Amino acid sequence: MAKGKKVTVIGTGNFGSTVAFILAMNGTCHNVVLRGRNYDVAKGKALDMSQASNAARQHTIVKAAKGPECMEGSDVIVITAGTPRTPGMSRDDLLMKNAEIVKGYAKEIKEYAPDAIVVVVSNPLDVMTYVALKFTGFPRERVLGMAGILDAARMANFIYEKLEYGAGQIRATVMGGHGDTMVPLPKFTTVAGVPIEDLLDSEEIGEIVTKTRNGGAQIVNLLGNGSAYYAPAKSTTVMVDAILKDTNQIHSCAIMMKGEYGYSDIVSGVPVMIGAGGGEQVINMTLKPLQQERFKSSVASVQEMVDKLYELNFFDEEK
Ligand code: 2OP
Repeated sequence: MAKGKKVTVIGTGNFGSTVAFILAMNGTCHNVVLRGRNYDVAKGKALDMSQASNAARQHTIVKAAKGPECMEGSDVIVITAGTPRTPGMSRDDLLMKNAEIVKGYAKEIKEYAPDAIVVVVSNPLDVMTYVALKFTGFPRERVLGMAGILDAARMANFIYEKLEYGAGQIRATVMGGHGDTMVPLPKFTTVAGVPIEDLLDSEEIGEIVTKTRNGGAQIVNLLGNGSAYYAPAKSTTVMVDAILKDTNQIHSCAIMMKGEYGYSDIVSGVPVMIGAGGGEQVINMTLKPLQQERFKSSVASVQEMVDKLYELNFFDEEK
């Protein structure tokens, strides 16, 4: 166990609670702070999880935050807070609403936890990562968005469903923004090193790509009142663990681009080496022209939303 490590999870809904619960079960940190709008609910969940941690013979203590000062000393802060789209609300309304929420927390993080590494999972993911980066003023290494691990896990699951073998050996790759234009990469997907194209025909691979892109929406439609949280939460803790244990593993996640793949000042999902410093290195893969084209349109869809925020003067107070 990484001794004395502290993780704050902002948001006590299904997603945030499940992130905190998995951390308590893993025992990779000593302290988890749950920060929600309702202190009693956060405290109740925190007590329940601390007791679960004891049942699991782990040492993690989960506590509820009374205010922003409870984030002090956090090694990692996960932002899950956000509002779901409700009837009558446009995508732009949702964008603005969640951007305001993430902005508020980013400013508090800057003040109370200036050394933390931030993992953003609020949607629209890539734009919210951009917002958190701008309002914390942190270097890009310390503001990452979680999506590529989730999208790759969904792709791996759909491959496993089709093959009915290879569990735990499927390495799927998904790049780009976490939205309809995400870029699943069958050419960089293998089962125990065997290219997926040697195991499935192009029609089957096409189906898997489509299912991966619709993976989140499929669950939203089935649940009826919210989005997925088990796979998203597990994927988030993979990133948190990589930071706390300084694994230097490569994971696909959202990060500010600085010339990589030909883009700058925009966030998108790319392979990143994650260690104690956060997203320590962006890995440049050689993409084929069609993959480049798809990545370009994914980046453009994120850029469009960021531009919208600039048009609405959302970043004016950014220092
Ligand atoms: C999803 O894709 C919640 O964005 C998350 O399910």
